[in-house]
Amino acid sequence: MHLISPSNLTISQITRVLEYSRDPDYGNRRALQLARSLPFYEKPWLATAFFEPSTRTKLSFHAAASDAGFRVLDLPGSSSLVKGETQEDTVRNMLEISDIAVMVIRSKDETLIYRMSEEYPEVSFINAGNGSSHHPTQALGDLLTLAEHFEGWRNLPGKAVTILGDVQSSRVANSCKELFEMFNMTVCFGGPKDLLPTHPHFSSTRLYENKEEALAASDVIMMLRIQHERKKFPSDAIDKARRERQMQEWKVTEDDLFRYPDLRVMHPGPVNRGVELTDEALDGMQSLVLKQVRSGYRMRKALLEVLLEDRQTALLRESLG
Ligand code: CP
Repeated sequence: MHLISPSNLTISQITRVLEYSRDPDYGNRRALQLARSLPFYEKPWLATAFFEPSTRTKLSFHAAASDAGFRVLDLPGSSSLVKGETQEDTVRNMLEISDIAVMVIRSKDETLIYRMSEEYPEVSFINAGNGSSHHPTQALGDLLTLAEHFEGWRNLPGKAVTILGDVQSSRVANSCKELFEMFNMTVCFGGPKDLLPTHPHFSSTRLYENKEEALAASDVIMMLRIQHERKKFPSDAIDKARRERQMQEWKVTEDDLFRYPDLRVMHPGPVNRGVELTDEALDGMQSLVLKQVRSGYRMRKALLEVLLEDRQTALLRESLG
């Protein structure tokens, strides 16, 4: 099984991931028990190749993989990419070093993970972010955060989540929209006009024209960072300052949250304090931002367990002919 966008998973696989994430009995199930009971040199390998910076995703995959009984092979920052080796060849070489069961990739090249998963169908590829396209494990962690906030995933249908900020460049927005709509939540967008998506795929998505309207209609607001690095002229300081000025009228403040006490605020991180959220809004009681990080780790552990279980079932079926 590959996970490149949320639609690669069935509702039943997703609810299994959610249930395993919150199960206090976690660790007693067969696949995990087997992986943990193996001697170190027989544990399956999980490889991570991050060709873009990361704190949350990379570290939580490492922590989750160790907990789930994997050995981890990580591409170092000082790899031979600087000598001109391509990302594709880097992945190929990593896959030769050992029998890799799961390969986690982050790249600004949107098609790299598709090409590699076609070339190596026996490896499970997990997308940790491909350009502005998708970031499915961020969305799954955020789904877990929402499911826990609303006291169970069965309470999610009808909830309104509005994603505000630089939606245009956001792989998180794409994955959250796809995943949350699978659970019949309403997902709308808003933000400065220049930062909203123009693709016809979003023609039926409601785009809010001002912050107040968005706050009043939402159960949860998800703020997004301005992804300057994905813009045409990322190093242009004038452009950068202009975008940040435009974002000012969308920034969520303590006053906003005071007016809507039931509203919760999320952000996938990294946060640029004072641009998307004030310090008080980010650090206050209505913020779910650090919960999202914890959920991301718990969900990734559960996802790896589901992968192991499904892999073992497939191997068993194969051996039975
Ligand atoms: N949300 C997220 O992907 O964070 P990192 O870039 O730190 O992994």
